[in-house]
Parts: sequence; structure tokens; C-alpha cells
Amino acid sequence: MACLWPCILVAASGILAIDTPHPRNSVLHHLTKQLLQKYHKEVRPVRNWTKATTVYLDLFVHAVLDVDTQNQKLKTSIWYREVWVDEFLSWNSSMFDEIREISLPLSAIWAPDIIINEFVDIGRSPDLAYVYVNSSGTIKNSKPIQVVSACSLETYAFPFDIQNCSLTFNSILHTVEDVDLAFLRSREEIKRDKKAFLNDSEWELISLPSTYSILQSSAGDFAQIQFNVVIRRRPLVYVVNLLIPSIFLMLVDLGSFYLPLNCRVRIVFKTSVLVGYTVFRVNMSNEVPRSAGSIPLIGVFFTVCMAFLVLSLSKSILLVKFLHNEQRSGQEQPLLCLRGDTDADGPRMDARAQRATVTESPIFQEHQAQSGTLKEVWFQLQSISNYLRTQDQVDQQDVEWLSLLYRFDRLLFRSYLVMLGLYIITLCSLWVLWSGL
Ligand SMILES: *[C@@H]1O[C@H](CO)[C@@H](O)[C@H](O)[C@H]1NC(C)=O
Ligand SMILES: *[C@@H]1O[C@H](CO)[C@@H](O)[C@H](O)[C@H]1NC(C)=O
Ligand SMILES: *[C@@H]1O[C@H](CO)[C@@H](O)[C@H](O)[C@H]1NC(C)=O
Ligand SMILES: *[C@@H]1O[C@H](CO)[C@@H](O)[C@H](O)[C@H]1NC(C)=O
Ligand SMILES: *[C@@H]1O[C@H](CO)[C@@H](O)[C@H](O)[C@H]1NC(C)=O
Repeated sequence: MACLWPCILVAASGILAIDTPHPRNSVLHHLTKQLLQKYHKEVRPVRNWTKATTVYLDLFVHAVLDVDTQNQKLKTSIWYREVWVDEFLSWNSSMFDEIREISLPLSAIWAPDIIINEFVDIGRSPDLAYVYVNSSGTIKNSKPIQVVSACSLETYAFPFDIQNCSLTFNSILHTVEDVDLAFLRSREEIKRDKKAFLNDSEWELISLPSTYSILQSSAGDFAQIQFNVVIRRRPLVYVVNLLIPSIFLMLVDLGSFYLPLNCRVRIVFKTSVLVGYTVFRVNMSNEVPRSAGSIPLIGVFFTVCMAFLVLSLSKSILLVKFLHNEQRSGQEQPLLCLRGDTDADGPRMDARAQRATVTESPIFQEHQAQSGTLKEVWFQLQSISNYLRTQDQVDQQDVEWLSLLYRFDRLLFRSYLVMLGLYIITLCSLWVLWSGL
């Protein structure tokens, strides 16, 4: 038993040595070695240096990972493909066992230095070490890239916004005389292709138009290809979470105009709506994109709503103040008001009663003493009439103020209606514009 294992191992290694041909004898090895033996990856692979190397580009947008409006960055995942012809990497396939295509390490051959101009962050992409070369020297290199690119993001029409971000490819060093760019597929096909795009995200790919242009600079002319990633937001979640609740809150606030004007319940009601609105805004502040450049229209509307709420609340407070003056002068008590009204009235009523006793008591005393003169009675009567007259003037002023406030209330109600109408019309037109694309 002890000698059995070494015997088996020796036998097995013998069999292996016989069965597997040495890699050096394989046609693939032979071909690869022959191709790379005299190859210099430092040299642009053309026989006549006046000829430019044309790099054919292709792009598939796979997913939109993040749209950061605050930092104006777009994170996308793309599949990128480049194809060029290497004149030194071709062979006669009938001389090499009909091998038409082999893979070679990317590090061993010349590769174009094409970058994306809008890169702002190191995009994570797997290091793919190999490229495919076919027998006529055509090299295919494809890789997935996570691109973090700078893009001017517009939030004005949020949540019905459409973003247009460009990805510009060009050679960082080579001028158009050395490295030229071209499209691998037709531009129309690239524009319409959404097959690779993941459909279930917040963003929807609309189209991918592209342009070829030559960038002229002091360092020379550079070929560049620009792809425009046009995406639009799916607004449903924002309509449900943001727009409809805000419209409901405003409708409730609008309903408060149907409460009697001279009632303090209205203040309590408006205050609760204001608190509700504030809580709503604090909760939703993370949902609304923030950017220093442009404020979303919906944010402007929220602020206007808040301003209206505060305005109508202060108006109600003013109104209650004047109504209070009116009550002090002994007019009817508003029906729907809070109990607190009467409590607040207590001390004032007492004061009035005191004043009445003060003005009446001398006359009373005089009656008792039965020694008063007509002159004194006259003075007393005059003081009473003076008091009543000033009271009348105060009442008159109060009434004027009240009618002003009533008119203001009606104006405010109409402005509410106009604003709500504008809000809804704007949202609808934004939605129509959004769906038109
Ligand atoms: C290189 O190509 C140009 C035209 O494209 C031609 O005029 C020139 O003779 C060629 N040079 C060589 C060494 O073949
Ligand atoms: C490839 O090699 C075969 C056989 O050696 C030969 O007949 C053929 O002409 C060659 N083709 C080219 C394009 O050189
Ligand atoms: C190599 O690939 C290119 C581009 O795909 C193609 O045009 C060419 O015919 C291929 N060559 C061979 C020998 O298959
Ligand atoms: C996107 O922007 C480019 C210019 O940066 C413009 O030419 C193109 O028309 C825009 N596309 C859309 C759909 O707005
Ligand atoms: C996304 O939807 C389009 C059509 O709306 C479809 O052609 C495409 O295959 C879908 N993409 C994925 C990844 O499902």
C-alpha cells in the first residue's frame, strides 16, 4: 500500500507528459509569437506615416446610475467599443490552420489614447487585458465603463425634466492627421438603439444623437465625436408624493375662506394648515433637487403658497383685533367664535362698567344730596355726550378697517384661485412638453 501512491503518481505524470503537446508546438502559440516578435507597440501601426489611423467608435448606454444636480454630475454606465486596423498584425489564415481571430494582450500592442472629455471622476471599469485581432489586422476592444461626467443639469421643470448630457470622445494627444475618429454603426442606428438600456430606473433614455466634428486649437486639429445622452425623468412618483399633496393642502386652505370672516376658528385653522405645510416641506426637501444655478419651478410655487398662507393668517389676526375693538363697544358677539373670546373680554367689560360708575356716581350723589345746580348737570351731560361721540368715531374707524379687510379677504381669495389655476396649468403644460419628446 505504501508504494502504491508514488507508483500511481509516476504513471500519471508519464501519461500527462505524453498526452499534452507542448504549448510551443501549437499553431496559436506559433502565430502569436510570430505576430509579436517584431512588433513595437510604441509605433503607430501604419506602413506609410502619412496615413491616419481611423478609430471607429460605438457606444451603448446601459444605465443611468445617478443624476446629481447639486454638483452637476451625471453617473452613467456605458458599453464602449473601439475598432481600428493595425497593419502589422495581419496574417494569412490559410497558412495558420484557418485561424481567423486571436486574442492578444492589450498591453502588448499599440492602442489609441481616447478619453471622454467630461470625465470628472475616475470611472470604475474592469481592467480587461485582452483584445481581439482578426487576420486582416482589425482590432476590437470593448469595455464597460462607469462614467462620472460633468453636465449642466436643468432642474427648472422638475419633475418633468429632460436632461441632455454630452460625452465627447477624442484623442488626448494625436491630431486628426494621426488619429481620426469615425462611427462604427450608422448614426441613426446609434440614436435609436435602446436595447441595452435598463428600463426600470427613474430615468428613461430618449435618444442618443451623435456628431462628428474637428476641434481646432493652438495645438492642432483634433477629431472628436460627441454623443448626447438625452434622458427624461419618470415623474409619477413625484406627482403622487409631491404635487398632489401640495394641491390638496392648498385646496384645504382655500376652503378656509368659507369659514365666517369674523371668527377666530379661522386663525386656528390657518395655523394648522401652515404647520402642516411646513412639515410637508421639511419631509419633502430631500426629494426636490437642489442646484445653485436654477430653482425648480415647483420650489417657487411652494414658497409662494407659504407666502399666501402667512399673508392670509396675518390678515385673520388683524381682523380679530378689530373685531375685538368692535365687541368692546358693545356690538353683537360673533356666533362661531371660540369660548376664549368671552374670557378675553372679561377685564375690558369690567373696565367699561367701572367707567360707567365713575361717570354716573356724581349725579347719583347729587340726587341724594339734593343741592346740585343745573350747571353741574349740564357739564356732566356734556362729558357723557363727548364720551359717546369719541366712541362713535372709534366705531366708525373700526368699520372702515373692517370693510377694507373684507375687501382684502375677497382679493386674497381670488389670488388664491388664480395662483392655484396657474400652478395647475403650468404643471399640465410642463407635462405636455415632457410627453411630447
Ligand atoms: C505615402 O502615401 C502618400 C499618399 O497617401 C504617397 O504620396 C507617398 O508616396 C507614400 N509614401 C510611401 C513611402 O509609400
Ligand atoms: C495565403 O497562403 C496561401 C497558401 O500558402 C496562398 O495560396 C494564398 O495566396 C495566400 N494569400 C494571401 C492573401 O497572401
Ligand atoms: C476582420 O474584421 C473586419 C471588421 O469586422 C472585417 O471587415 C474583415 O473582413 C475581417 N477580416 C477577416 C479576414 O475576417
Ligand atoms: C442636446 O444638446 C446639444 C448641444 O449640446 C444640442 O445640439 C441638441 O440639440 C440637444 N438635444 C436635445 C434633445 O435637446
Ligand atoms: C427597454 O424597453 C425597450 C422598449 O421600450 C426595449 O426595446 C428594450 O429591450 C428594453 N430593455 C431592457 C433591458 O429590457
